[in-house]
Parts: sequence; C-alpha cells; structure tokens
Amino acid sequence: MCGIVGYIGKQKASAIILEGLKRLEYRGYDSAGIAIQQAGRFEVAKKTGRVEGLIKATPAQKITGTTGIGHTRWATHGGVTDANAHPHVSSDGKIALIHNGVIENYASIKKFLLPKGYTFQSETDTEVLCNLIAYHYQKEPDVKEASRFLESVRKSLRHVEGTYGIAVMCGDCPAEIVSARKGSPLILGVGDGELMLASDVAAIISRTQNVVYLKDGELLHMTAKNFSITTLEAEDVSPVVDKITWKIEDSELNGHAHFMEKEIFEQPAALENTMRGRFSEDGSTAQFGGLNISAVDLRQVDRFHLLACGSAWHACLVTEHLIERFARVPVEVDYASEFRYRNMPLGNNTLFLTVSQSGETIDTLAAMREAKRKGYKVLAINNVVGSSIAREADGGVYQHVGPEIGVASTKAFTSQLLVGAMLALYLGRMRDMSFSDGAEYVKALKGVPDLVRQALEQAPHIKEIARRYAHYHDFLFLGRLSLFPVALEGALKLKEISYIHAEGYPAAEMKHGPIALISEQCPSVFFVPSGEMFNKVVSSMQEIKARKGKIIAVATDKCDLPAGLADEVIRIPECHEAVLPIVATVPVQLLSYYIAVELKRDVDKPRNLAKSVTVE
Ligand code: M6R
Repeated sequence: MCGIVGYIGKQKASAIILEGLKRLEYRGYDSAGIAIQQAGRFEVAKKTGRVEGLIKATPAQKITGTTGIGHTRWATHGGVTDANAHPHVSSDGKIALIHNGVIENYASIKKFLLPKGYTFQSETDTEVLCNLIAYHYQKEPDVKEASRFLESVRKSLRHVEGTYGIAVMCGDCPAEIVSARKGSPLILGVGDGELMLASDVAAIISRTQNVVYLKDGELLHMTAKNFSITTLEAEDVSPVVDKITWKIEDSELNGHAHFMEKEIFEQPAALENTMRGRFSEDGSTAQFGGLNISAVDLRQVDRFHLLACGSAWHACLVTEHLIERFARVPVEVDYASEFRYRNMPLGNNTLFLTVSQSGETIDTLAAMREAKRKGYKVLAINNVVGSSIAREADGGVYQHVGPEIGVASTKAFTSQLLVGAMLALYLGRMRDMSFSDGAEYVKALKGVPDLVRQALEQAPHIKEIARRYAHYHDFLFLGRLSLFPVALEGALKLKEISYIHAEGYPAAEMKHGPIALISEQCPSVFFVPSGEMFNKVVSSMQEIKARKGKIIAVATDKCDLPAGLADEVIRIPECHEAVLPIVATVPVQLLSYYIAVELKRDVDKPRNLAKSVTVE
C-alpha cells in the first residue's frame, strides 16, 4: 500500500527517486509523484497512472535538485485523481509530504486548521497532516532554528491517530528530510555520501546494501552529512546498520514477460533455499535456527493458533492439516483481520504462528500484537528479512525465496507450504512419529524441487488449456483435505489476475449449493489424488459431468481416471501427502497466469490490488 522513496546526496534526486518508485510500484499504482528541493522551492510533479507515465511527464533534465521525495499510491482517502496524488504541499508552501497509511482523525485536525486559514486542494488525509506540520512549524519560532522543522513534525505526530510512514521536506531546509513511522514500513539506506529512504529494500538495493530498519514511534532526521534517529518523546536512538542479502538481479525480470512468470519458474530453486540447512544430520527431522523456543517448551504446547491473510491464510490451512495429521496437535486457523476483534477464549498452552510473505500486512501485525498483549508467544514465518512482523515476533522461520514482486503470490506461497510441512515433521518427530517415518518424510521434502520442476514441464500443455478456457466467466476449484486450501488458492489466483469469478470448495461440499452454478458455462478444476480419496473425488466429478459441466483435472500420475470424465487432464507426479499441496499448486498458478496473459491483463499489477496491505 503506497511506496515511499527519499534521497539526499550529490546526484540528481529525481532520476534516483523515479527509479526507486518503479521498483516499489507493486505496492500501489494508482498514481505517482515526486517533489524535489529546487533553489529554495519545491518542484512537484504528480499524476494518476503508472510511474512510467510520470517519468514521461517529468522534465528530468530541468530538475537538478539533490534532495527529494517520491510516492506511488494505492488510494485510501480520496479517489484516483492528480490532486489526490502525493506529494502534498501545505497551503503556505512550506512543507511537502508523502505518506503511506491512514490518518484516522484527519477530519478533526482539518476542522482545527480551517479557521486558521489553511486551505486544501485534495480529499486526502495526507494533506491534512501536511498542513498540521506547517502550522506547528510557523507556530514555534521559539524553538531553535536548527531543529524547528524536526520538532514541528514530532509535535504534529503526537496529535495523529492512525498509521503512517511519512517523508517530509521543508522549504527553509533545502538538504533535510524528516521521516517517521507507525505501522507502515520505512528503511534508511546508508550509501556512499548519500542517504536513501524507502518503504522496502527493492528501491535502494541498487545504491547500497547497508540499511537501518526504522521502528514504530521513531523519527529519522536526514541531512546531506548524516542522520539521527529519535523517538516521538525525543529520546535518542542508536541506529543498528544491517546488511541486505538480496541482489539487484533478484528484483529484475531477467528475460521473463512478467514477475509472476519468473517467480513461478523460480520455485525449484526458491524451495531449495527454503530447506537449506534445515534437516537434522541423521536425516529424520527438520531443524530451525530461529524458533527461540526449546523442545521442552514446544512439547507443552497443546494447541497452535495460526494467523494470516490471503494466500498465506491458505498456507495456514494446509499447515493445519499437516500438523494435526503428523504431530497430532490441534490447530486453529484464523483470518488475522477477524482474530484481532474476536476476543475468543484461548487456552494456556497455545502457541501462535503468523504467516506473512511481506511481514508488513497490517491485519497480521495487529493480530500478532493482540496475541502478545494477551501474554502469548508468537512465532512468524516471513520472507522479508527485518520486516515489522519478523522483528516483533518471539522467533520464527525466514522463507529465503528472494523478493516476490508479482502481486499474486506464487513462490512465497509454496515456500510457506514447505515451511509448514517441515514444522509438522519437526513437531511430529517430537511426539509419535518414528525415525523411519521421519526419514521417509525428509526424503519427500528433499525431492520437492525436482517434483516442482516436473510439474512445470506441463507449462506448454497448460498454456493450450488456458487458451481454450480464457473466455469463461465462472470457475469452481474443488479439492479435498489438504487439497481444499489449494482449491482456494487456485480460485484466488485466477480471480486476482484475470478478474474471472472463481470459487474454491471442498469437493464434497459442492453438492450443498455451488453445484447450482454448474452448466456448460462454468468449468470446474478438480484436484485428484490417488489413494483413499480417489473414488470420492471421481464421484464428485461424475456429478459435475452429469450436469454438462466441463472438467479440468489436476491428477497425480497413478490416477486411472474413467475415460471421457475429464475434458482436460494435467498430470502431476505422485508424491508424499505432505508435499502434494505444493506440487498441485503449480498447475493452477500456470493456468491462472496463462489465462490472464490470454486476456491481456496487467498480470503483475492487477486492478485495485497492491502487494502488501499495510492499511486496515
Ligand atoms: O504479505 P502477506 O503474505 O501477509 O500478504 C497476504 C495477502 O495480502 C497476500 O497473500 C494476497 O492475498 C496475495 N495477493 C495473494 O496472491
């Protein structure tokens, strides 16, 4: 939700900021804008649409300033218009501001400012904060000139309710940027004679690998020479400089048409990275370096409570199945957005686990804080190192799949399934799972990259199917047990990138309502495993066929499907049940991707969406 970039250095700020915005565009792409300090005034350019449009409209050669801020927007308050695009400038022209988040009490602040002569050009909450800072800046002539700008931001933020990641410039302070965060991520990049500020590392990785992760309630004051961090209460903070491990190539297309395609095909390597170094020497269990909970304490856990949103929530549903099946511990899975307001009774020996690729999803973060407030330990599975959730968790597991840029989650999702399967093994081996069953499970996990590679070989066949099915308006995705969440994931992938209506159901539930949708116009995608569920799933397929519904079957190799039952069959290799959800996901990722391409959708930046949802 919105991307923020700031730069102070010796280079032309506009080019660096625009490049950074392009890399952050997946966070929001309704509009984009920059403000550059230019000979004592702000040069502002902002526009609805993509960063590319802003670049074309910005006479970069004329904007020579070396301090600036830029923003790519996912609209919350106010429609998608040029006026609502960031940066906003205060009505007295003194302050320029970009913002990621929501100022909840903006209406009362606006009411306070209006009689004082401040005027507003937009419908945004951001412009209100911008004018509040201008008000405090003008009002505090007694504060030392050198810190007047910083103190006006600090003072204003004390009156703000809501969430923010902001970057602010003051016309009187040509080489200064003040920024602050509460609930929205901000990272300082410490380069060679330059400082950068961004919502995430993608925007700064081409210039520096040295970063400082800002915490909630901290203010960063950047000048041309150095930077300092203080709290909202004006206490000094000693910065910790971390090193980013991602490389610039990780966030480039490298010959692929879309990031989604690249990330789907990266999965064998990504999953290899997720597993690396995480098996015991005797080959019978998994091991994790960062759980921060002893085996003795883990044994006392009598319930797991899993919290997440979107695809990560689907991953939790699979993990629930595996932990209950292999470790025999009950698991509860909640949408993070619901858990934070549910106030449900919880047991004493419950361990919480949040799952989030970005580690910045506001509902997951808030649900985690709620669980901690209640006195529970919370572990986290995250991909983004140093993210808010990763830092606030008591321990956890990093996914190590590199940056995921396509808005539709692919490699991060399968890697969450893999971590879930490894956790189920680890917990199972602490309880009743035998050495030989553990060893067989480990062997299956180690085989995942190769199984995924085999599933990817179906790409040309799936592309053909996609071409034939792209014109349908409704789809059902049906699976049982651990393949039911994969059905949900398949439906989500299809709807988010192709805008085709799709629903996921447990295959047997279909008779309780969704079957009413079935006609020649509504195809069903079935997940068909061999083994005990095979006949049951085939019966459900027969019921669809009897009603003239088209069927695409994603079936394991050994499934001997009755002739003519499925209109299309996509084969996946036979595998251990713990890894089947991972392998079965690949065909539906490809199917959604190729359908969206066939329909000429903007695959990496689907309408109305943003990669990480940092507003409630
Ligand atoms: O970063 P997170 O894993 O917390 O994100 C959660 C969801 O917003 C995310 O999975 C979303 O549903 C994706 N667009 C799915 O493809």
